[in-house]
Amino acid sequence: MAKRTLVTAALPYANGPLHLGHLAGAYLPSDMFVRFKRLKEDDIVFICGSDEHGVPITLAADRAGVTPADIVDKYHQINKETFEKLGISFDYFGRTSSETHHKTSGDFFKTLYDKDVFVEKSQRQLFDPKADMFLPDRYVKGNCPKCGFEEAYGDQCEKCGSSLSPTELLNPKSVITGETPEFRETNHWFLPLNDFQEWLEEWIDSRQNWKSNVAGQCKSWLNEGLNERAVTRDLNWGVPVPLPDTDGKVLYVWFDAPIGYISATKEWAEQQGEPEKWKTYWQDEETRLIHFIGKDNIVFHCIMFPAMLKAHGDYVLPENVPANEFLNLEGRKLSTSRGWAVWLHEYLEDFEPDLLRYVLAINLPETRDSDFSWSDFQVRVNSELADILGNFLFRTQSFLNRYFEGIVPELVNPTDRDREVLNAIGEYADEIDKLYEEFRLKEAVLQSMNLARLGNKYFTEMEPWHLRKSDMERCGTVLHVCAQLSAALSIVFDPILPNKMQTLRNELNVKESTWKNITSELLPAGHKIEKGSILFQKIEDETIDAQVKKLKERAGEPQPEDIPDLKETAVIDDFARIDIRSAEILSAEHIPKSDKLLKVQVNIGLEERTVLAGVAQQYEPDDLVGKNVLVVANLKPRKMMGVKSQGMILMAEDPDGNLYPITTEAPPGSIIK
Ligand code: MF3
Ligand code: ZN
Repeated sequence: MAKRTLVTAALPYANGPLHLGHLAGAYLPSDMFVRFKRLKEDDIVFICGSDEHGVPITLAADRAGVTPADIVDKYHQINKETFEKLGISFDYFGRTSSETHHKTSGDFFKTLYDKDVFVEKSQRQLFDPKADMFLPDRYVKGNCPKCGFEEAYGDQCEKCGSSLSPTELLNPKSVITGETPEFRETNHWFLPLNDFQEWLEEWIDSRQNWKSNVAGQCKSWLNEGLNERAVTRDLNWGVPVPLPDTDGKVLYVWFDAPIGYISATKEWAEQQGEPEKWKTYWQDEETRLIHFIGKDNIVFHCIMFPAMLKAHGDYVLPENVPANEFLNLEGRKLSTSRGWAVWLHEYLEDFEPDLLRYVLAINLPETRDSDFSWSDFQVRVNSELADILGNFLFRTQSFLNRYFEGIVPELVNPTDRDREVLNAIGEYADEIDKLYEEFRLKEAVLQSMNLARLGNKYFTEMEPWHLRKSDMERCGTVLHVCAQLSAALSIVFDPILPNKMQTLRNELNVKESTWKNITSELLPAGHKIEKGSILFQKIEDETIDAQVKKLKERAGEPQPEDIPDLKETAVIDDFARIDIRSAEILSAEHIPKSDKLLKVQVNIGLEERTVLAGVAQQYEPDDLVGKNVLVVANLKPRKMMGVKSQGMILMAEDPDGNLYPITTEAPPGSIIK
């Protein structure tokens, strides 16, 4: 076993607040692991910080009409506080705009440059003459060459999903000035990952206990073959390239950000008053370096950063990268741009941090994507935290206080069952220990809850409320066992529920609280405990409904109250008078001078008809052609804009006034009844 562990959690971009997905992906698992290791009294340091460079930041600044520095100052502070409130216990939370980081990452680049690691190449790149700058991919918009969408970005078309390069865009425009950019030559430095291919293959093969999702992704990148990757950019925000005559060039954000782990460790050491101490964590082979990240960061932490570290030569390489998959929300992919997200700072306004920690922990996207739903949140809080863990603890504490004056009674002539339960404490602790060490955190949480479940079951089985009247000594023995279990739980659950378990330990007067103290003799007979509190309150339906409502409202989904009331009752004859047919849309065209109407040619089976449809603001003629829709065929013809309409295409209208054609698989002429 290595002498010490350095844990890093992906540096979040300081361009917006944090949501549930961030927490489940990297920060909660890393924090649980670190808290566990601290209980084991292992030498461990936990490092994170804000990723303050790159195009995501400058774009956010442009959008808000402020400087990048304004943006990162704001979100660095907000995110740091959010982490603190959630009990994410970083030893140091740095930021990549710091002086230490600029120096460390600049020197890192310079070392690789001096070792001739980089390839220097000239590139043709889009330049905005009016803004006097080269345009990053996201700063160019234009027509998608694949689907024609007019607002495609230089790196991706959000309509058809194709990934693009800015030079492929038709009719490209600068996002900043709207000008047509021109091509200019510019020099950049590339990390030739291809030179590292063989080494990386061997190195990754030699890694033990990597998760299959992580190893699998690495293998597939390696199979595709690695390419050169530019490590500099033309941008005026970032770490300046430390070479002469490179004004206006900075390090690529994915080059500087991971070095942020090193910079932050330096600042931590300084804060400790031992400025050289960072070296033991980064330069001594006895360190286990572990990166906790989400799956979109795998290639950078398993391929690019290791190649950089290897090329540099002075640093340890990661021993493991336990990356998580994605967390979905209410069965859908999280999307901040669509408002489909639960923001952590908002969660914290309504609930306690530990509840979310538990619910996410028992459902981590460890090996595959998982889902968070508010109803599951309620169920887990009410029927696991409150009914199992909380119930057992509260029953035990109340009983001890009421009938034993808060004094832990003697263990007298324990039965086999008593011994079994007492032994389970050590067995569970060992099992959970093993699971944490193997990064199987979700199972560790499940087993922790199983220990509470065992306690709850034992209490019910033993019926101390009867024993109290018949056999006080036996009753005392049962409560002795329950007291040991409670104390054990206060440590076992500490990595998951740090605040609640601190409260519990205070109530139980548990002074020694390291992992090795999890024994069946934690609270000796005669030990005094304080009055217990209800650790977990149940969550009401209304509370949950309000959260779901808030989420849907923000995502712009119609609310029940926006949906129009039903019309008056009709009889079947009312309906039967209307002749509705399926019809195929043969062609469609705009009507001159009308911005609302499209002239549509339909085949209603019996004949062709011309109908007018008031959908021109929402649909282009091509969107409709070929669809089989429903047409009211016996509507009295009506003339509009000089055209006679012989029927009406049925549309559904949502509360926002959007129209949707009702399509059908029925062949033209089919009658609706
Ligand atoms: N900011 C990146 C993201 O949010 C993560 C950077 S991790 C680091 O996806 F290693 F580069 F720091
Ligand atoms: Zn497209």
